[in-house]
Amino acid sequence: MTTLNEYLDFAKTLAKQAGLMMLEARKSSSFERNYKSDHELVTSVDLAIDQYLCSELASRYPKHKIFSEESTPDLLVDKANSAPVWVLDPIDGTVNFAHGLPHVAVSIGLFFDGKRQLGVIEAPFLQQTYWAVAGQGAYCNGERLSVSQQDVLRNSVVATGFPYQKAALGSLIPKVTRILENCQDIRRNGSAALDLCAVAHGLMDAYFESVKPWDMAAGAIIAEEAGATVGHFSEIRAEWPEPLNGDCLLVSTPKLYEPLRLLLK
Ligand code: IPD
Ligand code: CA
Ligand code: CA
Repeated sequence: MTTLNEYLDFAKTLAKQAGLMMLEARKSSSFERNYKSDHELVTSVDLAIDQYLCSELASRYPKHKIFSEESTPDLLVDKANSAPVWVLDPIDGTVNFAHGLPHVAVSIGLFFDGKRQLGVIEAPFLQQTYWAVAGQGAYCNGERLSVSQQDVLRNSVVATGFPYQKAALGSLIPKVTRILENCQDIRRNGSAALDLCAVAHGLMDAYFESVKPWDMAAGAIIAEEAGATVGHFSEIRAEWPEPLNGDCLLVSTPKLYEPLRLLLK
């Protein structure tokens, strides 16, 4: 327990500093924009934060592994491997960051012994720090979080996102239509990490999307510790252990989970 809380404190310090780097870069507007693929933007700030997080973690915990979107996206994470793995998204919401929008975060998760152990998500433009440790609840700026009491599909607000790979849109649009027909509305904030925090905070009732491990590792434990049901609306690929697998991710209040799963499958 002491060690987990020590990891948490370190992750919070790193996340704060990463947040300051985002604030500073936006103030001076001095960053480069590049494209990883046709539509996938990456800025020099994503890369600078990645370098900062990786070097701090490697010098503090040389035996730990780092699974980061920008520098080690192909790391093989073995389910049985008990060496701690830090799962990093240096900027979640890069498009928002580059456009001056507020839903932007750094996401730091920790996985070992086959489970998500902790998550820290810092949203500097919203002045929010979210965190959770397994079995210890979820918090935002010190306030304990719990999911909404929503149990009526028709009244629920559902978060989602859209993939950079446009070929994946074809199968997604019918799901979006079914959600719009059966729920109150959809929101697309542009940060999967903050969508998961919004569910944890009780501000939105559910979230679904297919995302990568670094998009959801921290947010999933924050939502889970706030009382959300975390699972998948369809079969997942075996590429990553289930707790880090963002394929067909569905996170919602416990009562909405099954009706939403049926709508999405
Ligand atoms: C993206 C955001 C977005 C989600 C995409 C992610 P990035 O992450 O979380 O909300 O819809 O699927 O890839 O590229 O800003 O780190
Ligand atoms: Ca992301
Ligand atoms: Ca990112």
